[in-house]
Amino acid sequence: MNTSDNVVEMHSISKGFNGVSVLKDVSFDVRKGEVHALAGGNGAGKSTLMKILQGVYQADEGEILIGGQPVAIKSIQDAKAAGIGMVFQEFSLVPSLTVAQNIFLASEPLSAGGLIDDRAAVRRAKEIFADMEVNVDPRAEVSRLGTAYWQLTEIAKALSQDAQVLIMDEPTASLARHESEALFELIDRLKQRGISIIYISHRMDEVYRLADRITILRDGRRLLTDALTDVTPGQIVEGIVGKKIEGQMAYRARDHVAHDGPPLLEVHGLNAGRRVRDVSFALRPGEILGLAGLMGSGRTELARVLFGIDRLDSGEVLIRGKKTNLASPQQAIDAGVALIPEDRRAQGLILDHSVRDNLLLPLLGQLRRGPLLDSAKGKELSSSLIKKFAVKVAHPHRPVRLLSGGNQQKVVIAKWLGTDPDILILDEPTAGVDIGTKSEILDMIRELANAGKAVIVISSEYPELLAVSDRVLVLKDGTVIRDIPRSDIADEEYLQLAVQGV
Ligand SMILES: Nc1ncnc2c1ncn2[C@@H]1O[C@H](COP(=O)(O)OP(=O)(O)OP(=O)(O)O)[C@@H](O)[C@H]1O
Ligand SMILES: [Mg+2]
Repeated sequence: MNTSDNVVEMHSISKGFNGVSVLKDVSFDVRKGEVHALAGGNGAGKSTLMKILQGVYQADEGEILIGGQPVAIKSIQDAKAAGIGMVFQEFSLVPSLTVAQNIFLASEPLSAGGLIDDRAAVRRAKEIFADMEVNVDPRAEVSRLGTAYWQLTEIAKALSQDAQVLIMDEPTASLARHESEALFELIDRLKQRGISIIYISHRMDEVYRLADRITILRDGRRLLTDALTDVTPGQIVEGIVGKKIEGQMAYRARDHVAHDGPPLLEVHGLNAGRRVRDVSFALRPGEILGLAGLMGSGRTELARVLFGIDRLDSGEVLIRGKKTNLASPQQAIDAGVALIPEDRRAQGLILDHSVRDNLLLPLLGQLRRGPLLDSAKGKELSSSLIKKFAVKVAHPHRPVRLLSGGNQQKVVIAKWLGTDPDILILDEPTAGVDIGTKSEILDMIRELANAGKAVIVISSEYPELLAVSDRVLVLKDGTVIRDIPRSDIADEEYLQLAVQGV
């Protein structure tokens, strides 16, 4: 058999953790110069399969061939030597070093004395970025750069080590729209140079934009591998979710907004830091308000002020018609506000604690019985949340760290909904969740509003924003520039123009 087209072949890979099987007999191959999308629901095993190729884990069974030759990949070093590079989701750069120093960290060009030759490193980094046709200053300290540049530095680092295959695990999750487009163009150029890319994403538009072939994993097994031209979007979604879903992105007009009585939340002339300037709006029970805006428009900052994380400089917040002081998250929680933060890893979860403890964290007040905690009630509550949100975890005792990315996101959402808030703020609620879970989260948001709660949704995905919002506030430079009823928004393009301030 002629396998010379395949740079990577993984044959019948199986892997379990503590007796729980995660990958079963999965085969996967990558051709030279192709973009191969790896798709599947949260917890399907995508990241685990790639960590095996990357030398982070070893397979229990199966074989890996690189360029047709069997190889043993026992460490990240082995993977690098075999030409496999990974662009980590949680970046592996040293923030206090420069871009060039990071690129050559493990393999610095050494000067005669054995010291790092900074000038040579900068020169070589410049060459690599020029080849990539991107503009990055190799002398800049990484900590001063935005996520998009971290990612470019990671890619440059892999290329400097002669990577033939690049693994990208949800690379656009933390990028703005124009940055994603720049990444896609870079991927096109890398492909032309014969570099292969394994691309993990929950976003179908990206898969269609980039990929030549797609492999779908379901529950640790390979469901299919096909050319994108041979499968329909419907088949892909059904393959990932295990059932048909229709109309998840359609807006359904709801008539539950309570127009009499005071608004649930009123904000008057709010100023905070440099990113929230003179913001005023009101939110009624039953209403879903979308916040649209570019990166840096102040959406997240506004959410942080409303949840008592950042202090307001001036202006006032009224909840149920009463002026309310939101000086800390605890005060916000007591006033019935919950925030599901954008950066779930940093702000939403304690990774080394169990799923159960994380779920119960905001509920500790309610569970206190004298000096003790009501552990039976806690167990019951956490189990019901795990069930309700279909969190994929072997046991509630397991640390959150071991859950797949999307399942961690579900724990964050479940945790805050457990507090039964009246005003719920969700910042990028579906980042990293699979398509099936995404439509469940959107339905959940609608149900909460139908039950009389007020919801604020921040999302950079316009279809999602348009699917749930009754009204959209457009922010620019920290200020509300438009307040548009959903019925006045014809389509995505209309919203996009509004966001650009046209
Ligand atoms: N080190 C580990 N110990 C125990 N279980 C693990 C470990 N790593 C992963 N798992 C489990 O393996 C399963 C697959 O996880 P994986 O991260 O590969 O999923 P994924 O397809 O990348 O999902 P997502 O789309 O949510 O990122 C999950 O159920 C996860 O909890
Ligand atoms: Mg993953």
